[in-house]
Amino acid sequence: MFLKEITLKNFRNYSDLFLSFPQGRSILYGNNAQGKTNLLESIYVLGLTKSHRSYVDQSLIAQGQDFARINGTFSINELDTNLELTLQEKKKRLKVDGDLIKKVSDYVSKVNIIIFYPEDLELMKGAPNTRRRYFNLELSQLNHTYLTVLNDYNKLLKMRNDYLKDHVGVDFDDIYYQILTRYFIDKATFLYRMRKKYIDRINEFVEEYFLKISGKEGFSIRYEPGIDIEHYSKEGIEEALVQKLEQLKEAEKKVRTTLAGPHRDDYSFYVDDMNLKEYGSQGQQRMAILALKLSEIPIFKQQTGEYPILLLDDVFSELDETKRNNLLCCLPRDIQTIITTTDLTNLDEDLLNTSKLVEIECGNVIKMKEVQ
Ligand SMILES: Nc1ncnc2c1ncn2[C@@H]1O[C@H](COP(=O)(O)OP(=O)(O)OP(=O)(O)O)[C@@H](O)[C@H]1O
Ligand SMILES: [Mg+2]
Repeated sequence: MFLKEITLKNFRNYSDLFLSFPQGRSILYGNNAQGKTNLLESIYVLGLTKSHRSYVDQSLIAQGQDFARINGTFSINELDTNLELTLQEKKKRLKVDGDLIKKVSDYVSKVNIIIFYPEDLELMKGAPNTRRRYFNLELSQLNHTYLTVLNDYNKLLKMRNDYLKDHVGVDFDDIYYQILTRYFIDKATFLYRMRKKYIDRINEFVEEYFLKISGKEGFSIRYEPGIDIEHYSKEGIEEALVQKLEQLKEAEKKVRTTLAGPHRDDYSFYVDDMNLKEYGSQGQQRMAILALKLSEIPIFKQQTGEYPILLLDDVFSELDETKRNNLLCCLPRDIQTIITTTDLTNLDEDLLNTSKLVEIECGNVIKMKEVQ
C-alpha cells in the first residue's frame, strides 16, 4: 500500500498543505523546527488515529485554531481509499471514503504504518506501559479483533477495579465478582495468545536483522506475561490465570486493584542472556529497535498481502555510514518510504537520485523535485 496524497488543515504548524507522494521514496528536508516531523506525524495519525509521540490529541491542533483536519488518499490493494480524520473539541471524527466510521477498530486496520524515530529508544528504556502501548498499536493494525478485545478488556478491568475499590466486607458479592472475573479472564486469554504469537513471529526474523545491522548474533525479544503461558493452550492459559487470581484474591481485596492480567505484561530485549535494557550500549539498543521494526515489515506483508508504509524520522543522523547502508539494504525497494533529514549531504547519491525531494520551511513546501 502507499500514500498518494495528503491535505492538512490546521495540523500543528501547517495551516494548509497539499502534497503528493510517489510509490517509492520521498525525502523531506529542511532546518530544525520547520515541520518535517509534524508532517510524518500527520501521516501516522491519519492511519492510526493516535500520535506516536504525543498522548494529548489537543496538541495536534494548530495553536489558536479550534480544529485540525487530515485527509489522505491511499492506494490499498490497487484501489484508492480516502481517509479523513478531524479533531475538534476533544472529539475525533473518522471517515472512510466519505462515510463516517463509528468503530475505531474498523478504521485502524485499514492502513499499516511502521515509523522509526529518534525517541524510539524509549521503547527500550521506558516503563512497561510504553512497550505495551507500542505492541498494542502494532497488533491493532494487523487484526481489528485485537483492538476490539483490548477495549473490552480495559472496560472489564476498570469494572473489576471499581468493584474492588467500592465494595468491602459484607458488601462484597462473591458471585457477581466471580462472573466479572470470568469475562475478564476470557478477554485476557485472547490478548495473551495474540501477543505471544506476535512475538514468536517477530523472533523468526529479528535475529537475522540484528545480525545484518550490528554484526552480532543471538538477539531475541522476550514476551513476559506475568503467568507461565509457554506451552499452554487456550484452556491452559485460562486455568493458569484462574489460579493466579485465586492466589492473589486476598491481596487484591487489600490493595483494591487487579494484580494479574495482560495490563501488567512486559517485553524485553536480549542478546543471548544479556538484557539490553540493563547492559546494552546506546548503539546496541538503537539497533535492537531497528531490528524489531524491520522484522515487522515481512510480518505485515504476510498478514495483509501488502507492504506497510515506512516513515523514517531523522534516523540516519543517529547511525554511522556503514550502519546507515546496512539499514537501507534491509529495506525492500518497492516499499513506500518517507524519510526526514536536516542535511541532504549526508545521504547516499543513489538514494537522492531515486527519491522525491521536498524542502519544508515554516509549515510550507518551498522546493520540490520529483523522481526523474
Ligand atoms: N500545535 C501546534 N501549533 C503550531 N505550531 C506547532 C504546534 N505543535 C508544534 N508546533 C511547531 O512545530 C515546529 C516543530 O516542528 P517539527 O517537530 O516537525 O520540526 P522538524 O522540522 O522535525 O525539526 P527537527 O529537525 O528539529 O526535528 C515547532 O516550531 C513548533 O513550535
Ligand atoms: Mg523532527
